[in-house]
Amino acid sequence: MRYERLGEIPRKRHVQVRRNGAGSPLLTEEVMGYEGFSGNETILYHLHSPCRLDAVGGFQSIEREEWVPDAHVHRLADTGPVDPGGDPLSGRRLLMWNADLEVWLCKPTEPFTGFYRNGEGDEVIYVHRGGGVLRSVFGRVPFREKDYLVIPRGTTHSFELDAGEQTWLCFHTPGEIETPNRYRNRYGLLLEHAPYSQRDFHPPGDLETLDESGEYPVTVRVRGGHQEYLLDRHPFDVVGWDGYVWPYTFNADDFEPRAGRFHLPPPAHQTFQGQNFVICTFAPRMLDWDPEAVPLPYHHSNIQSEEVMFYAEGDYAARKGVEVGSITLHPSGLPHGPQPGAVEKALGSKSTDELAIMWDTFRPLQLSTLWRDHDKPEYALSWNPDRSWASV
Ligand SMILES: [Fe+2]
Repeated sequence: MRYERLGEIPRKRHVQVRRNGAGSPLLTEEVMGYEGFSGNETILYHLHSPCRLDAVGGFQSIEREEWVPDAHVHRLADTGPVDPGGDPLSGRRLLMWNADLEVWLCKPTEPFTGFYRNGEGDEVIYVHRGGGVLRSVFGRVPFREKDYLVIPRGTTHSFELDAGEQTWLCFHTPGEIETPNRYRNRYGLLLEHAPYSQRDFHPPGDLETLDESGEYPVTVRVRGGHQEYLLDRHPFDVVGWDGYVWPYTFNADDFEPRAGRFHLPPPAHQTFQGQNFVICTFAPRMLDWDPEAVPLPYHHSNIQSEEVMFYAEGDYAARKGVEVGSITLHPSGLPHGPQPGAVEKALGSKSTDELAIMWDTFRPLQLSTLWRDHDKPEYALSWNPDRSWASV
């Protein structure tokens, strides 16, 4: 990300700084950075030491309930019937994972009363339904439907939820969430051909500097589990920060889709890059305009990736049985493409109103029992016109 600053920061780094002049306590400077001191970093100025604890609570490992299917096939699941519940952390239910990426479904109904910090990975929350405010040490980040809310590791935060339905896809990766290298020049500037610009990325707006005492529970994800702490000072005690690491939103409606005379494959829709995975946005767009163009994906054997697609909005012409809230998994080792009839039907189409979020991992994914409970095994046979969808 680019350089940002908020609040009051001293003229130089690593100097004596007091909020209210001589006689007032020194502020505590915290450098939060990736790759030791060689990656992106932000410097924050706290009223109190961010190490300060009142009590150390318990540690609980994250339990993953794996479903090992009987067969390796294309899969479809519907997230619509998954019951809402829990808060923005306890309400997360694992859908799939590998060593590079975890994907959790969350439909929170309860307020988040404590604070959370991911100490071992970056997070992206795709807000399918709902909205609210991410409150963080960096300030407040309002989020709304179709936002990608990107939260760097190390960000102590909480949530305020709007009233009404909330449905989120929560991604966790031990790697970094970045914009693709090819969209940026050597200075980090997003180039003219990128499907978004710096203006589309929204940093924290208002800094909350709370000099308060009380009981503040903080949950830190680390070593594959959650460690609980209790603080006696409010963790949002930052008076200013500057740097390249901060939470932000990017709205899917701000993705400027690309189209061609003939069909363009998913890299045209790439939004983020991670360690051995990508996240793409299939936004409403004009379709391939050559009179002989086939305006749907060609069959492909993506022999080194697993393709997962979440259908967020519109009518997805290439997929039978798919509705808003459905997820398809097209795993490695198998070709896939539009189902019979879909191509003929799509010929001559000028535009599509689909909005879909895709994540492709280069390494195989494991599925959870949540997927098992919402799996539609008939999808595997849906390319055979001799098998009616209803009877399989
Ligand atoms: Fe595909």
